[in-house]
Amino acid sequence: MKYVTFENGDQMPMLGLGTWKSAPGEVYQAVLWALEAGYRHIDCAAVYQNEKEVGNALKKAFGEGLVKREEVFVTSKLWNNAHEKDQVAEGLKRTLSDLQLDYLDLYLVHWPVSLKTHVMFPEKGEDFLNYEQVPLADTWAGMEALKRAGKARHIGVSNFNQEKINEVLESCQVTPEMNQIELHPYLPQNELVTFCKENGLQVTAYSPLGSADRPKARKKADDPVLLEHPLFRKLAEKHEATVAQVLIAWSLHRDIVVIPKSVNKERIHQNLQAASLQLDAADMQAIAGILERHRYIDGTFFTEVPGSPYSQSDLWEPV
Ligand code: A2P
Repeated sequence: MKYVTFENGDQMPMLGLGTWKSAPGEVYQAVLWALEAGYRHIDCAAVYQNEKEVGNALKKAFGEGLVKREEVFVTSKLWNNAHEKDQVAEGLKRTLSDLQLDYLDLYLVHWPVSLKTHVMFPEKGEDFLNYEQVPLADTWAGMEALKRAGKARHIGVSNFNQEKINEVLESCQVTPEMNQIELHPYLPQNELVTFCKENGLQVTAYSPLGSADRPKARKKADDPVLLEHPLFRKLAEKHEATVAQVLIAWSLHRDIVVIPKSVNKERIHQNLQAASLQLDAADMQAIAGILERHRYIDGTFFTEVPGSPYSQSDLWEPV
């Protein structure tokens, strides 16, 4: 297994289990299968609405001696409705209570978008708070306090573009250590990855397999299916691997943390084995030759809500 090493020497396994879309009722078993298989990194978020079940699985694993708390790297994310400085600690408190943990290994600001406290998903302009009402610097100051208190060992962001990261860098005392973004061969994020690494941020790839199980509202009829691209089939045959393993190995080869989601025992095992799949220079070059670009999670659920103060340029550069 490859690891990311943070400035203080802490290590994060570069392959973890994703839990977005893992339903309560499935995710408990998935986390236990993953820990049994050898995963030592679980990626969570408050908005996935399954942290209680993840917490029950962790408690069982710790209680039965399957793993120790300090052996598992647990990430979670602050939801958009807790961005006000005094709310950030509340957000973490709820997540720690649900996960039944005393601290997180990594806590991320999930999106550079703020919502009023009682809103989970925005439906109208009044559901939002804008950057004047909640400057990103305030939210980040709240995150820094959590790190100082030892409640989040590391802190970072998710879905932040260069402009938003720069905004945080200008006022921060603690540099964000991670940016978790959609990343796969249709969206290799070359510039943003370089920018992050040059500024001390590691990168995590979400939707590394193309998130075919994303909600219907996030699907368009002409979306390409990443797992069906013929090049990956060819590379999978060449390496006697699966397409998913090729995609996971591609991120690892680029020193990018990757969190494939699965609730299937066999696929959970299969995905972990991608850590020992070595792609060669010719494979990487062939994948770089894919010029089709596609973003599956486009953020229009924030930017196209009537009256939203946010636009696509607050989230990303066009692909
Ligand atoms: P399942 O949970 O039934 O295994 P992403 O990580 O990009 O969000 O993709 C998750 C989707 O990919 C889910 O539908 C998941 O289904 C599926 N998936 C996970 N691992 C594999 C695999 N090894 N082969 C094919 N599909 C997979």
